[in-house]
Amino acid sequence: MAEVSGVSDMRSPYRTHGDSFDVDDLVSREPFLQFKNWFEEAKLEPNIEEANAMALATATKNGSPSVRMVLMKGFDKNGIVFYTNYNSRKAAELVCLTDTLLVRARTCLSYCYNLSQSWLNDINQASPPPKKPKLDKKQRDKLYDVEKRTREQVCLAATFLVRAGMSYCYIPSQSWYVLLQTFLVRAEENPKCSCMFYWEQLKRSIRVEGSVSRLSKEKSEEYFNSRPRPSQLGALSSNQGSIVDSRKTISDRFKSLSETYKDEDKTIPKPDCWGGYLVTPDLFEFWQGQTTRLHDRICFRRLATGEKVDEKLTHIGEDGWVFERLEP
Ligand SMILES: Cc1cc2nc3c(=O)[nH]c(=O)nc-3n(C[C@H](O)[C@H](O)[C@H](O)COP(=O)(O)O)c2cc1C
Repeated sequence: MAEVSGVSDMRSPYRTHGDSFDVDDLVSREPFLQFKNWFEEAKLEPNIEEANAMALATATKNGSPSVRMVLMKGFDKNGIVFYTNYNSRKAAELVCLTDTLLVRARTCLSYCYNLSQSWLNDINQASPPPKKPKLDKKQRDKLYDVEKRTREQVCLAATFLVRAGMSYCYIPSQSWYVLLQTFLVRAEENPKCSCMFYWEQLKRSIRVEGSVSRLSKEKSEEYFNSRPRPSQLGALSSNQGSIVDSRKTISDRFKSLSETYKDEDKTIPKPDCWGGYLVTPDLFEFWQGQTTRLHDRICFRRLATGEKVDEKLTHIGEDGWVFERLEP
């Protein structure tokens, strides 16, 4: 019933054979200049409204993928910049292992774990190990001490997590340890991503793969302050990805914030949970479509350590890049 008809016949012409893209057409033997060249062309194409729109694919560490559109907001020799909410699904999947706050939070939790294990060991070493241990005063004091130190460390871990952008980190009294563990497991997802630009009018696309890192608070703030006020209020009003009862709840929030910041001279603060990412590319693929489906694909990648290449197939580029033509 919900079938869409005519899809299999949908077909639009791409480029013709005389208009192909070959290695000799590259403007550079490293991919950043080539990206800039194609991007500038797309930007100038009058029928492309948002040349900077890209699909961003992420995956959990178990390999479940997800993809969504975002806007590229910067490109230079370091890579691609985009902005989003650090509590969103993409951000949860992208959290970087190297994030020092998360590393510190994990250290606190392993300290708690070791502490409780050592206490359990002490109890279990009593022979026979008591099923429901009856604790003497010394053991009770030790347990109290372990609990106190654990609680301190868990609070510290929570502080680090909140500072790392996980502002929804709510700690109920009983299950705080388990909850924080869950956050940390989520936190250590997969800092790799792939971005895809498609410019239909030019029959071109660029695929980029790489690792992400968060921009500094200062850089994110600089960009946030340059945005139109309604966009700033929008970012402040939305906890991206959280379930909400109605549109009204969000628009009421927006209205109330608009009231608070109605004085144009009053700076709207960047929410802690909002900021930028830098994608550091390790692969670029330039694709140009042909009507015959013999599309052109030129892929730049980094050589693996110790990798030997066949120079008939792999071209040695500049700045540590190699490039290859791929079959369509
Ligand atoms: C053209 C376009 C541009 C978008 N740009 C952004 C963006 O720059 N940042 C962002 O967080 N979401 C952007 N969105 C919304 C995202 O696609 C997505 O709905 C949102 O980020 C939540 O994704 P997540 O739940 O996978 O984290 C854009 C959507 C479209 C269609």
